[in-house]
Amino acid sequence: MQPWMSDVPAAIVRVKAELANRIPDVVERFRTLTTELAREVNAVASEAQAGHAVPELAFSDLSSGDIPKPLADRIRRRGCAVIRGVFSTSQIATWNAEIGEYIERNNYVEKQRSRVGLDRYFATLGAASPQIYSLYWSKPQVAARQSEELAKVRAALNRLWRQPSGAPAFDASRECSYADRLRRRQPGDTTLGLSPHADGGSVERWCDPSYQRVYGEVLFGDPTAYDPFDATHRISTEEIPSPAVCSVFRSFQGWTAMSQQGPGDGTLQLIPIANLMGWILLRALQPDVSADELCGAQAGKALPFDPRWHEAAAAALVAIPRVMPGDTVWWHNDIIHAVEKEHRGSGTSNVIYIGAVPWCDKNAAFLPRQAKAFLEGRSCPDFAPEDYEVDFEGRATALDLTPLGRRQMGLEPW
Ligand SMILES: [Fe+2]
Repeated sequence: MQPWMSDVPAAIVRVKAELANRIPDVVERFRTLTTELAREVNAVASEAQAGHAVPELAFSDLSSGDIPKPLADRIRRRGCAVIRGVFSTSQIATWNAEIGEYIERNNYVEKQRSRVGLDRYFATLGAASPQIYSLYWSKPQVAARQSEELAKVRAALNRLWRQPSGAPAFDASRECSYADRLRRRQPGDTTLGLSPHADGGSVERWCDPSYQRVYGEVLFGDPTAYDPFDATHRISTEEIPSPAVCSVFRSFQGWTAMSQQGPGDGTLQLIPIANLMGWILLRALQPDVSADELCGAQAGKALPFDPRWHEAAAAALVAIPRVMPGDTVWWHNDIIHAVEKEHRGSGTSNVIYIGAVPWCDKNAAFLPRQAKAFLEGRSCPDFAPEDYEVDFEGRATALDLTPLGRRQMGLEPW
């Protein structure tokens, strides 16, 4: 933990004063990016009308191992993608049945009711606390994470990043396992919504010296030259320890659809503008924001997108297109995203959260703790220690890992 993290309110005041000194043209910079943002918001709005604001490709498009060039450029600009047909519908049907059986057999729902309140991460976001299943080690989750299909998808996505010459920040072709949870949302549900936010750092994006380097062009260089896919400083950022803040570097957050879902079905919304975070950073440094305030950013919480401050980008919030079982959805860690407040559809809206966590020192350092949790059936150490699965029947064990899975889990060298 860095020294500034022990007194975050003081750090915010100090860093804002320092940045004001170092960036005398902060108003001009913000104006430049606001003009650029207006163009992007318009572009997203017209793409959304035509139904293609979120870039889409088929799993079969990855036959060369890479995302074809024009699409790769679009994904770098939009910061998100839907990759279709990664798993067959029959595979997903089998996994859904297995997960349902795992939940039933082990009385998960009853057990969760008796322990509500441990996951405070989303406590300040507008909608009610999500009822996401805190399960990490069902056999289908482990099977999906270690699948050859997702290895291929994640490697292709990792390669969208620009690496510093000579010393890559991460190895795009190798993945670390990162155990996240399940969403299973019933029709009519109104409790699971999440207002727009970004994960992976809130006040850190201003206060952490490595994050200042990530946004170096925005703050100190040419703000229009900022590249959100430059990997150079991304893996050296440090997040404030918090029970549910992601402490690994994810090149993309993501999920695998376990059911059909589209706009209105309580699913994901995104602001598909990859470089928006640079504008959000400068927004908080403008003279109308008080010296101790970062437009709502709070330590240990998701970074909120607040229309009071961020109105200029609000019109670009779009629902992802309808996805089918076996499709996957991916978004850059800086992308503002939300979950629709209400599920007005007719079927359950289920996903397994699986992001892209490429191999680097930071991510590999997380693996021993996670492997121990896996072997003991405890919660992934990046989340609240609810540990539901320690005595669950049918949990995945080391015997369920493939050779690739063992390497991704750090239990065997690559
Ligand atoms: Fe999120």
